[in-house]
Amino acid sequence: MVPQKLRANPGGQISPDEVIGRDQLISEFWEILDRQSLMLNAERRMGKTCMIKKMQAEAPKDKLPVYHDLEKVRSPLEFVETVLQDVEEYSSGLRRTARRTRQLLTQISGAEFSGFKLPEFAAPHWKRLLTETIADLVENQERKVILLWDEVPYMLGNVGNQAAMEILDTLRSIRQMYPDVRMVFTGSIGLHHVIASLKKEGYTNEPTNDMYAADIPPLSYVDANDLTHRLLLGENISTTDSWVSAAAIAQAMDGIPFYIHHLIIKLKMRGKKVDAAIITKTIEDCLLDPLNPWKMDHYRERIDNYYNDEQRPYALNLLDVLAVSNEPLLFDELFHNLKQEPETQNKEMARTVLRLLERDYYIIRQSEGYCFRYSLIKRYWKLLRG
Ligand SMILES: Nc1ncnc2c1ncn2[C@@H]1O[C@H](COP(=O)(O)OP(=O)(O)OP(=O)(O)O)[C@@H](O)[C@H]1O
Ligand SMILES: [Mg+2]
Repeated sequence: MVPQKLRANPGGQISPDEVIGRDQLISEFWEILDRQSLMLNAERRMGKTCMIKKMQAEAPKDKLPVYHDLEKVRSPLEFVETVLQDVEEYSSGLRRTARRTRQLLTQISGAEFSGFKLPEFAAPHWKRLLTETIADLVENQERKVILLWDEVPYMLGNVGNQAAMEILDTLRSIRQMYPDVRMVFTGSIGLHHVIASLKKEGYTNEPTNDMYAADIPPLSYVDANDLTHRLLLGENISTTDSWVSAAAIAQAMDGIPFYIHHLIIKLKMRGKKVDAAIITKTIEDCLLDPLNPWKMDHYRERIDNYYNDEQRPYALNLLDVLAVSNEPLLFDELFHNLKQEPETQNKEMARTVLRLLERDYYIIRQSEGYCFRYSLIKRYWKLLRG
C-alpha cells in the first residue's frame, strides 16, 4: 500500500512502497525476463534504480533477484568477488557454498581456499572464476536467477577498455552457456557510450545483441499527478487547490520523479501558499541556480564528454535551433538553420548527430519533425545558452 502522504526525498533511497506507478512496466519486464536478459535505458534520474529495487523487493515466487550496484568495482577480479559474495550470501540460506568456484580457487592456489577476499593470484583466472560463480548460483537454485546489475557502464569505465571488452564478452558467453540465467543491466551513463568508445579501440563484437533493450519513460500523467499530490500532502504545503497545483507541477516537470521531489522541497522552503505563479518562478530559480541543484549541467557536459570534436558543434547548434523554435522542425528546415554557422555545413553529419541526440533523450522525432523531448530540458537549454 502506498502511503497517502509522502515525504520528499530527491535522489535518496526510497522504499519500494514509496515508488509510485511502474507496475505495468515492471510486469512487462518480468514477461521479457521469462524469455531473455534485459538492458534498461533511460535518461538520468528517471527512476531506474528505484525500479529495479522494486523488482527485487516484489519478485515473483519463481524468481531469485540478486541486486548489486557495481559503481565501485575497479577490476574484473573485484567484479568476480562481488558476484561471489552475492552468490554465497544467497546460497548460505540453503546451507550451501559456491562449491565449484571454491574448488577452482583451491586448484589455482594449491591449498584449501576459504576466504572471501580473492587473492591477487586469482586475477588472471577471473573469467573462469566468474563462469563457475554463476554456475554455482544457477545450480543451487530452484528459482530462476535474475542478476540485477546497476551502474554497469561505470564499472566498465573503471576497469579500462581491454577488461571492459572481456567482461562484456564473458557475460555474453555465460548467458549462452547458462540459458536460464538472466541479467538486467542499467546505469546512469548509456551503455551505448561505453560500447562506442570500445569500438574506437577496435572492438567489433555486439556483446548485448541477445538482450532486450527497453526504455524507462517518465511517470504517466496519472502517476505523476498522484506522486505530486502525495508529496504536497506529506510536506504540508498549502495550495489554492492541491490537485490543480499537483497537475501543474507534474506537467512542468515532464513527469520525471526526481525533479518533482526536488521542486516540492523548494516550494516547501518558500513557505508561501502555492499557486501557478509561484510554481513558475520557483522552477526558473532552480534552473538558474549556479549550485545546479537539478544537476542540469549534465545535459551540457555530456556533449563535451561523449560527442567528438566534429560532432560537438552540430549537437550544440541543433539544440540551440530547436530550443528557440515553438514548433517541431523538419530536417530541411533544421539544416537550413544549421547551415548559417560555418562549422556545421555537412548534411550527413547533421543526420548522424540528430540520431545521437535522439538516443541520448534530448530530442524526439515525430512526423511533424524534431523537437526537444522534455519541455524542462528545453527551458534549461534556452536559459543556459541565452
Ligand atoms: N516511481 C517513483 N516514485 C516516486 N519517486 C521516485 C520514483 N522514481 C524515482 N523517484 C525519485 O527520483 C529519485 C531518483 O531516482 P533513481 O535514483 O531511481 O533514478 P536513476 O534513474 O537510477 O538515476 P541515475 O541516472 O542518477 O542513476 C529517487 O531518489 C526518488 O526520489
Ligand atoms: Mg540509478
